[in-house]
Amino acid sequence: MLHDPNRVYVFDTTLRDGEQVPGCQLTTPEKIEIARELEALGVDIIEAGFPISSPGDFQSVVEISKAVKEPIVCALTRANKGDIDAAAESLKYAKHPRIHTGIGSSDMHIKNKFNSTREEILVRAVDAVKYAKKFVEDIEFYAEDAGRADIVYLAQMVEAVIAAGATVVNIPDTNGYCLPEQYGAKIRFLKENVKNIDKAIISVHCHNDLGLATANSLAGLQNGARQVEGTINGIGERAGNTSIEEVVMSLKIHKSIGLHTNINTRNIYEISRMVSSQMRMPVQANKAIVGSNAFAHSSGIHQDGFLKNRENYEIIRPEDVGFPNASIVLTARSGRHALKFHLERLGFNLDKAELDAAYTRFLTLADNKLDINDNDLTNLVSFKLAND
Ligand code: KIV
Ligand code: ZN
Repeated sequence: MLHDPNRVYVFDTTLRDGEQVPGCQLTTPEKIEIARELEALGVDIIEAGFPISSPGDFQSVVEISKAVKEPIVCALTRANKGDIDAAAESLKYAKHPRIHTGIGSSDMHIKNKFNSTREEILVRAVDAVKYAKKFVEDIEFYAEDAGRADIVYLAQMVEAVIAAGATVVNIPDTNGYCLPEQYGAKIRFLKENVKNIDKAIISVHCHNDLGLATANSLAGLQNGARQVEGTINGIGERAGNTSIEEVVMSLKIHKSIGLHTNINTRNIYEISRMVSSQMRMPVQANKAIVGSNAFAHSSGIHQDGFLKNRENYEIIRPEDVGFPNASIVLTARSGRHALKFHLERLGFNLDKAELDAAYTRFLTLADNKLDINDNDLTNLVSFKLAND
Protein backbone atom coordinates (compact mmCIF):
# COMPACT_ATOMS: atom_id res chain seq x y z
CA MET A 1 0.00 0.00 0.00
CA LEU A 2 1.27 3.48 -0.85
CA HIS A 3 2.10 5.71 2.09
CA ASP A 4 -0.38 8.59 2.34
CA PRO A 5 1.77 11.76 2.52
CA ASN A 6 -1.01 13.72 4.24
CA ARG A 7 -1.62 11.26 7.03
CA VAL A 8 -0.56 12.42 10.50
CA TYR A 9 0.35 9.69 12.99
CA VAL A 10 -0.92 10.30 16.51
CA PHE A 11 1.46 9.31 19.31
CA ASP A 12 -0.17 9.30 22.72
CA THR A 13 2.03 9.77 25.78
CA THR A 14 -0.69 10.12 28.43
CA LEU A 15 0.64 7.00 30.13
CA ARG A 16 4.25 8.22 30.13
CA ASP A 17 4.70 12.04 29.98
CA GLY A 18 1.17 12.52 31.34
CA GLU A 19 1.63 10.05 34.14
CA GLN A 20 4.78 11.84 35.34
CA VAL A 21 2.55 14.51 36.88
CA PRO A 22 2.58 14.36 40.69
CA GLY A 23 -0.62 12.78 41.97
CA CYS A 24 -1.57 11.28 38.58
CA GLN A 25 0.07 7.88 39.00
CA LEU A 26 -1.98 4.95 37.80
CA THR A 27 -2.07 1.26 38.62
CA THR A 28 -1.36 -1.25 35.86
CA PRO A 29 -5.08 -2.21 35.49
CA GLU A 30 -5.99 1.47 35.16
CA LYS A 31 -3.32 1.93 32.49
CA ILE A 32 -4.63 -1.08 30.59
CA GLU A 33 -8.13 0.37 30.63
CA ILE A 34 -6.86 3.67 29.24
CA ALA A 35 -4.70 1.88 26.65
CA ARG A 36 -7.76 -0.02 25.38
CA GLU A 37 -9.69 3.22 25.14
CA LEU A 38 -6.76 4.81 23.26
CA GLU A 39 -6.89 1.91 20.83
CA ALA A 40 -10.62 2.51 20.31
CA LEU A 41 -9.85 6.20 19.80
CA GLY A 42 -7.56 5.20 16.94
CA VAL A 43 -4.18 6.45 18.14
CA ASP A 44 -1.29 5.04 16.14
CA ILE A 45 1.27 4.79 18.92
CA ILE A 46 0.85 4.36 22.67
CA GLU A 47 3.87 5.32 24.76
CA ALA A 48 3.23 2.87 27.57
CA GLY A 49 5.96 3.87 30.01
CA PHE A 50 9.61 4.23 30.95
CA PRO A 51 10.43 0.63 31.91
CA ILE A 52 13.75 1.20 33.70
CA SER A 53 12.15 3.76 36.02
CA SER A 54 10.32 1.25 38.26
CA PRO A 55 9.16 -2.38 38.32
CA GLY A 56 5.58 -1.10 38.14
CA ASP A 57 6.27 0.87 34.97
CA PHE A 58 8.07 -2.11 33.46
CA GLN A 59 5.09 -4.37 34.20
CA SER A 60 2.66 -1.83 32.75
CA VAL A 61 4.51 -1.88 29.43
CA VAL A 62 4.40 -5.70 29.46
CA GLU A 63 0.66 -5.79 30.16
CA ILE A 64 -0.25 -3.04 27.70
CA SER A 65 1.77 -4.88 25.05
CA LYS A 66 -0.44 -7.90 25.64
CA ALA A 67 -3.67 -5.91 25.83
CA VAL A 68 -3.66 -3.94 22.56
CA LYS A 69 -3.39 -5.21 18.99
CA GLU A 70 -3.44 -2.36 16.52
CA PRO A 71 -1.30 0.48 17.90
CA ILE A 72 2.46 0.46 18.11
CA VAL A 73 3.50 0.11 21.75
CA CYS A 74 6.45 2.30 22.63
CA ALA A 75 8.81 2.31 25.62
CA LEU A 76 11.01 5.25 26.61
CA THR A 77 14.72 5.04 27.42
CA ARG A 78 17.70 7.28 27.97
CA ALA A 79 20.67 6.73 25.70
CA ASN A 80 22.23 3.84 27.60
CA LYS A 81 22.28 0.07 27.36
CA GLY A 82 20.57 -0.64 30.70
CA ASP A 83 17.53 1.44 29.77
CA ILE A 84 17.37 -0.06 26.29
CA ASP A 85 17.68 -3.65 27.60
CA ALA A 86 14.77 -3.01 29.99
CA ALA A 87 12.66 -1.46 27.23
CA ALA A 88 13.33 -4.33 24.82
CA GLU A 89 12.43 -6.88 27.50
CA SER A 90 9.21 -5.06 28.44
CA LEU A 91 8.11 -4.97 24.80
CA LYS A 92 8.53 -8.67 24.12
CA TYR A 93 4.76 -9.29 23.81
CA ALA A 94 4.07 -6.21 21.69
CA LYS A 95 2.70 -6.91 18.20
CA HIS A 96 4.28 -3.68 16.99
CA PRO A 97 7.12 -2.65 19.36
CA ARG A 98 8.99 0.65 19.27
CA ILE A 99 11.90 1.84 21.40
CA HIS A 100 12.04 5.59 22.03
CA THR A 101 15.58 6.57 22.94
CA GLY A 102 17.35 9.90 23.00
CA ILE A 103 19.52 12.48 24.63
CA GLY A 104 19.77 16.25 25.14
CA SER A 105 20.54 18.33 22.06
CA SER A 106 20.76 21.91 23.37
CA ASP A 107 24.04 23.33 24.66
CA MET A 108 22.19 23.97 27.90
CA HIS A 109 21.56 20.24 28.38
CA ILE A 110 24.89 19.13 26.93
CA LYS A 111 26.86 21.30 29.37
CA ASN A 112 24.64 21.57 32.43
CA LYS A 113 22.96 18.18 32.41
CA PHE A 114 25.57 15.88 30.86
CA ASN A 115 28.73 17.91 31.50
CA SER A 116 29.75 16.83 28.03
CA THR A 117 30.49 18.11 24.55
CA ARG A 118 28.52 18.16 21.31
CA GLU A 119 30.86 15.56 19.82
CA GLU A 120 30.49 13.11 22.72
CA ILE A 121 26.72 13.49 22.79
CA LEU A 122 26.54 12.76 19.08
CA VAL A 123 28.44 9.51 19.60
CA ARG A 124 26.14 8.52 22.47
CA ALA A 125 23.05 9.27 20.37
CA VAL A 126 24.24 7.13 17.47
CA ASP A 127 25.37 4.29 19.75
CA ALA A 128 21.99 4.22 21.50
CA VAL A 129 20.11 3.96 18.21
CA LYS A 130 22.43 1.22 16.91
CA TYR A 131 22.08 -0.71 20.16
CA ALA A 132 18.28 -0.40 20.23
CA LYS A 133 18.15 -1.52 16.60
CA LYS A 134 19.50 -4.92 17.67
CA PHE A 135 16.16 -5.55 19.43
CA VAL A 136 13.48 -3.90 17.30
CA GLU A 137 13.21 -2.42 13.84
CA ASP A 138 11.17 0.62 14.81
CA ILE A 139 13.34 3.16 16.65
CA GLU A 140 12.28 6.65 17.55
CA PHE A 141 15.03 9.08 18.58
CA TYR A 142 14.29 12.18 20.69
CA ALA A 143 16.62 15.16 20.65
CA GLU A 144 15.66 16.51 24.06
CA ASP A 145 15.34 20.31 24.35
CA ALA A 146 15.49 20.63 20.57
CA GLY A 147 13.42 23.80 20.95
CA ARG A 148 16.54 25.55 22.28
CA ALA A 149 19.16 23.61 20.33
CA ASP A 150 21.47 25.09 17.73
CA ILE A 151 19.78 24.23 14.45
CA VAL A 152 22.94 23.21 12.59
CA TYR A 153 23.95 20.84 15.39
CA LEU A 154 20.40 19.51 15.61
CA ALA A 155 20.44 18.79 11.88
CA GLN A 156 23.75 16.96 12.24
CA MET A 157 22.33 14.86 15.09
CA VAL A 158 19.16 14.03 13.16
CA GLU A 159 21.15 12.97 10.10
CA ALA A 160 23.45 10.78 12.19
CA VAL A 161 20.67 8.97 14.05
CA ILE A 162 18.73 8.33 10.84
CA ALA A 163 21.88 6.88 9.31
CA ALA A 164 22.16 4.68 12.43
CA GLY A 165 18.63 3.35 11.88
CA ALA A 166 16.12 5.73 13.50
CA THR A 167 12.73 5.46 11.79
CA VAL A 168 11.21 8.45 13.57
CA VAL A 169 12.99 11.61 14.76
CA ASN A 170 11.31 13.44 17.58
CA ILE A 171 12.08 17.17 17.89
CA PRO A 172 10.80 18.03 21.37
CA ASP A 173 10.23 21.55 22.59
CA THR A 174 10.86 20.13 26.04
CA ASN A 175 10.49 23.43 27.84
CA GLY A 176 7.68 24.92 25.80
CA TYR A 177 10.05 27.70 24.75
CA CYS A 178 9.40 28.21 21.04
CA LEU A 179 6.98 30.48 19.25
CA PRO A 180 5.00 28.81 16.45
CA GLU A 181 7.05 30.51 13.66
CA GLN A 182 10.30 29.44 15.30
CA TYR A 183 9.23 25.86 15.83
CA GLY A 184 7.77 25.59 12.33
CA ALA A 185 10.99 27.01 10.87
CA LYS A 186 13.01 24.46 12.82
CA ILE A 187 11.06 21.58 11.32
CA ARG A 188 11.27 23.12 7.84
CA PHE A 189 15.06 23.51 8.19
CA LEU A 190 15.42 19.82 9.05
CA LYS A 191 13.15 18.83 6.18
CA GLU A 192 15.20 20.88 3.73
CA ASN A 193 18.73 20.34 5.01
CA VAL A 194 19.02 16.82 6.40
CA LYS A 195 19.92 14.75 3.37
CA ASN A 196 18.42 11.43 4.57
CA ILE A 197 15.31 13.00 6.17
CA ASP A 198 12.98 11.13 3.79
CA LYS A 199 14.02 7.87 5.46
CA ALA A 200 12.33 8.91 8.72
CA ILE A 201 9.17 10.55 9.98
CA ILE A 202 9.60 13.84 11.83
CA SER A 203 7.66 13.97 15.09
CA VAL A 204 6.56 17.03 17.05
CA HIS A 205 6.50 16.88 20.85
CA CYS A 206 5.61 20.19 22.47
CA HIS A 207 5.13 21.36 26.02
CA ASN A 208 2.72 24.08 27.02
CA ASP A 209 4.74 26.42 29.25
CA LEU A 210 3.68 29.45 27.19
CA GLY A 211 0.30 28.02 26.25
CA LEU A 212 1.62 27.39 22.71
CA ALA A 213 1.87 23.60 22.56
CA THR A 214 -1.04 23.12 20.15
CA ALA A 215 -0.01 26.07 17.96
CA ASN A 216 3.58 24.83 17.85
CA SER A 217 2.53 21.28 17.00
CA LEU A 218 0.35 22.54 14.15
CA ALA A 219 3.21 24.74 12.90
CA GLY A 220 5.47 21.66 12.91
CA LEU A 221 2.93 19.61 10.97
CA GLN A 222 2.43 22.41 8.46
CA ASN A 223 6.17 22.44 7.88
CA GLY A 224 6.66 18.75 7.22
CA ALA A 225 6.29 16.74 10.44
CA ARG A 226 3.93 13.77 10.14
CA GLN A 227 3.72 12.53 13.70
CA VAL A 228 2.30 14.50 16.62
CA GLU A 229 2.87 13.60 20.25
CA GLY A 230 0.55 14.63 23.02
CA THR A 231 -1.76 13.59 25.79
CA ILE A 232 -5.46 13.45 26.49
CA ASN A 233 -6.62 16.72 28.11
CA GLY A 234 -3.07 18.07 27.58
CA ILE A 235 -2.02 16.51 30.87
CA GLY A 236 1.73 16.48 31.48
CA GLU A 237 4.79 17.93 33.22
CA ARG A 238 4.39 21.53 34.48
CA ALA A 239 1.87 23.26 32.16
CA GLY A 240 1.34 20.02 30.28
CA ASN A 241 1.84 18.54 26.82
CA THR A 242 0.09 19.17 23.54
CA SER A 243 -3.54 18.25 23.88
CA ILE A 244 -4.25 15.55 21.30
CA GLU A 245 -7.92 16.47 20.98
CA GLU A 246 -7.02 20.07 20.11
CA VAL A 247 -4.63 19.12 17.30
CA VAL A 248 -6.93 16.47 15.90
CA MET A 249 -9.95 18.78 15.84
CA SER A 250 -7.90 21.67 14.39
CA LEU A 251 -6.89 19.45 11.47
CA LYS A 252 -10.46 18.23 11.06
CA ILE A 253 -12.01 21.71 11.14
CA HIS A 254 -9.33 23.32 8.95
CA LYS A 255 -9.46 21.04 5.94
CA SER A 256 -7.37 23.60 4.04
CA ILE A 257 -4.30 22.42 5.97
CA GLY A 258 -4.72 19.21 4.01
CA LEU A 259 -3.70 16.80 6.77
CA HIS A 260 -5.74 14.14 8.53
CA THR A 261 -5.50 11.60 11.33
CA ASN A 262 -7.09 8.24 11.98
CA ILE A 263 -8.79 9.36 15.18
CA ASN A 264 -12.42 8.41 15.87
CA THR A 265 -13.29 11.86 17.13
CA ARG A 266 -16.61 10.71 18.60
CA ASN A 267 -14.66 8.87 21.30
CA ILE A 268 -12.84 12.01 22.48
CA TYR A 269 -15.18 13.09 25.25
CA GLU A 270 -15.41 9.63 26.79
CA ILE A 271 -11.66 9.14 27.03
CA SER A 272 -11.21 12.68 28.30
CA ARG A 273 -13.52 11.94 31.23
CA MET A 274 -11.89 8.56 31.87
CA VAL A 275 -8.38 10.06 32.01
CA SER A 276 -9.57 12.92 34.18
CA SER A 277 -11.22 10.68 36.74
CA GLN A 278 -8.54 7.97 36.84
CA MET A 279 -5.73 10.51 37.10
CA ARG A 280 -7.65 12.67 39.57
CA MET A 281 -6.99 15.66 37.34
CA PRO A 282 -10.09 17.82 36.75
CA VAL A 283 -10.54 19.31 33.29
CA GLN A 284 -10.84 23.09 33.48
CA ALA A 285 -14.36 24.19 32.52
CA ASN A 286 -13.17 26.35 29.61
CA LYS A 287 -10.73 23.74 28.21
CA ALA A 288 -11.02 23.63 24.41
CA ILE A 289 -12.99 20.67 23.01
CA VAL A 290 -13.59 18.81 26.30
CA GLY A 291 -14.23 21.40 29.04
CA SER A 292 -17.73 21.37 30.55
CA ASN A 293 -18.34 24.86 29.10
CA ALA A 294 -16.90 24.06 25.66
CA PHE A 295 -20.42 23.87 24.20
CA ALA A 296 -22.33 26.02 26.71
CA HIS A 297 -23.82 29.30 25.54
CA SER A 298 -24.70 31.78 28.25
CA SER A 299 -24.79 35.38 27.06
CA GLY A 300 -28.02 36.69 25.55
CA ILE A 301 -26.44 37.73 22.23
CA HIS A 302 -24.77 34.36 21.73
CA GLN A 303 -27.85 32.40 22.79
CA ASP A 304 -30.07 34.33 20.40
CA GLY A 305 -27.62 33.79 17.53
CA PHE A 306 -27.15 30.14 18.40
CA LEU A 307 -30.90 29.49 18.51
CA LYS A 308 -31.31 31.12 15.07
CA ASN A 309 -28.59 28.91 13.63
CA ARG A 310 -26.16 26.96 15.79
CA GLU A 311 -23.33 27.57 13.32
CA ASN A 312 -23.41 31.24 14.32
CA TYR A 313 -21.58 30.28 17.51
CA GLU A 314 -20.48 26.68 17.04
CA ILE A 315 -17.50 25.65 14.90
CA ILE A 316 -17.53 22.06 16.17
CA ARG A 317 -20.66 19.96 16.50
CA PRO A 318 -20.65 18.54 20.06
CA GLU A 319 -21.68 15.13 18.74
CA ASP A 320 -18.52 15.02 16.60
CA VAL A 321 -16.43 14.76 19.76
CA GLY A 322 -19.01 12.69 21.66
CA PHE A 323 -19.98 15.62 23.88
CA PRO A 324 -23.48 15.04 25.35
CA ASN A 325 -24.96 18.18 23.68
CA ALA A 326 -24.73 21.94 23.42
CA SER A 327 -26.42 23.79 26.22
CA ILE A 328 -28.14 27.09 26.60
CA VAL A 329 -27.31 28.09 30.16
CA LEU A 330 -29.73 30.44 31.87
CA THR A 331 -28.07 33.29 33.74
CA ALA A 332 -28.89 36.94 34.40
CA ARG A 333 -27.14 37.65 31.06
CA SER A 334 -29.60 35.48 29.08
CA GLY A 335 -32.22 36.97 26.81
CA ARG A 336 -35.90 36.27 26.09
CA HIS A 337 -35.04 33.90 23.26
CA ALA A 338 -33.16 31.56 25.62
CA LEU A 339 -35.92 31.66 28.21
CA LYS A 340 -38.56 30.92 25.56
CA PHE A 341 -36.44 28.00 24.30
CA HIS A 342 -36.30 26.42 27.76
CA LEU A 343 -39.97 27.07 28.58
CA GLU A 344 -41.03 25.46 25.31
CA ARG A 345 -38.77 22.50 26.07
CA LEU A 346 -40.78 22.12 29.30
CA GLY A 347 -44.08 22.40 27.43
CA PHE A 348 -44.95 26.06 28.19
CA ASN A 349 -45.91 28.05 25.09
CA LEU A 350 -46.36 31.68 26.16
CA ASP A 351 -47.59 34.58 24.08
CA LYS A 352 -45.51 37.76 23.86
CA ALA A 353 -47.01 39.52 26.88
CA GLU A 354 -46.73 36.38 29.01
CA LEU A 355 -43.15 35.90 27.96
CA ASP A 356 -42.29 39.52 28.79
CA ALA A 357 -43.76 39.10 32.26
CA ALA A 358 -42.00 35.78 32.79
CA TYR A 359 -38.72 37.33 31.63
CA THR A 360 -39.00 40.14 34.21
CA ARG A 361 -39.53 37.57 36.97
CA PHE A 362 -36.72 35.45 35.56
CA LEU A 363 -34.23 38.35 35.75
CA THR A 364 -35.05 38.97 39.40
CA LEU A 365 -34.56 35.29 40.14
CA ALA A 366 -31.35 35.01 38.09
CA ASP A 367 -29.80 37.98 39.87
CA ASN A 368 -30.19 36.08 43.12
CA LYS A 369 -29.63 32.47 42.09
CA LEU A 370 -26.65 31.13 40.14
CA ASP A 371 -28.12 27.92 38.90
CA ILE A 372 -31.58 28.19 37.29
CA ASN A 373 -33.05 24.72 36.89
CA ASP A 374 -36.23 23.28 35.37
CA ASN A 375 -38.02 23.46 38.72
CA ASP A 376 -37.33 27.18 38.96
CA LEU A 377 -38.70 27.70 35.46
CA THR A 378 -41.82 25.72 36.21
CA ASN A 379 -42.36 27.73 39.40
CA LEU A 380 -41.82 30.94 37.47
CA VAL A 381 -44.62 30.11 35.04
CA SER A 382 -46.89 28.50 37.67
CA PHE A 383 -46.59 31.66 39.76
CA LYS A 384 -47.93 33.59 36.80
CA LEU A 385 -50.81 31.13 36.28
CA ALA A 386 -51.69 31.25 39.99
CA ASN A 387 -51.88 35.05 39.81
CA ASP A 388 -54.03 35.19 36.68
O1 KIV B 1 9.71 16.60 26.58
C1 KIV B 1 10.59 15.80 26.22
O2 KIV B 1 11.66 16.16 25.74
C2 KIV B 1 10.31 14.39 26.42
C3 KIV B 1 11.27 13.41 25.83
C4 KIV B 1 11.67 12.39 26.82
C5 KIV B 1 10.66 12.80 24.60
O3 KIV B 1 9.29 14.03 26.99
ZN1 ZN C 1 7.83 15.66 27.04
